[in-house]
Amino acid sequence: MIKGLIFDLDGVITDTAEYHYLAWKSLAEKLDIEIDREFNEQLKGISRMESLDLILKHSNKEKDYTEEEKVELATQKNDEYKEYIKQITPKDLLPGIDQLLKDAKAKGLGMALASASKNGPEIMKRLEIEDLFDGIVDPASLHAGKPDPEIFVKGAEILGLDTSECVGLEDAEAGVEAINAANMFSVGVGSEAAMHKADYIVKDTNELTLEKILEEAGK
Ligand code: BG6
Ligand code: MG
Repeated sequence: MIKGLIFDLDGVITDTAEYHYLAWKSLAEKLDIEIDREFNEQLKGISRMESLDLILKHSNKEKDYTEEEKVELATQKNDEYKEYIKQITPKDLLPGIDQLLKDAKAKGLGMALASASKNGPEIMKRLEIEDLFDGIVDPASLHAGKPDPEIFVKGAEILGLDTSECVGLEDAEAGVEAINAANMFSVGVGSEAAMHKADYIVKDTNELTLEKILEEAGK
């Protein structure tokens, strides 16, 4: 019996995955590193500093910067990202999400956020959905990021549920792996190729209805 939904944020609830990409691309260009959308798939779901490390490694530049310089570079990216998220309003919920959240609430399901983003709480506020959620896992409290299951296990703890009573929703490969490792039913939003490890795949959020999710999870 499913009693809770645990959501990733970027790329599932709102299209901030695109803003992350644009901000990283702009930083990479300044460092003379080229990244494209295919490479960007690897950056989804992982932390800010891990993303920077992958970008530097992509161009064999991981040894060119001290830890301090890397923190400064990550801050530059985050400053640009924050400019993008200032524009977010409730209209920026991805298609189908508003209805899904309302239906889940009406049905009495618990809802928690399991996002690696430290900007999560601000984005939830701007989308005006924080009251629908029972809680947000603090990414700073984690010992290991996605694909480790910890963030989804903590999401279930917030809801007071066993992980087997929850569904996790993700758009990142690392995120789907984290949900599966938490022994939760995984819903993947995206291409078949990127989401092939998910228990149930939808091409985009339009297809995410509570009825269908519960039906699939109950099979
Ligand atoms: C995840 C995104 O949700 O959050 C990643 O998929 C991002 O792309 C990560 O790097 C950390 O986000 P932030 O906002 O703390 O830099
Ligand atoms: Mg995501």
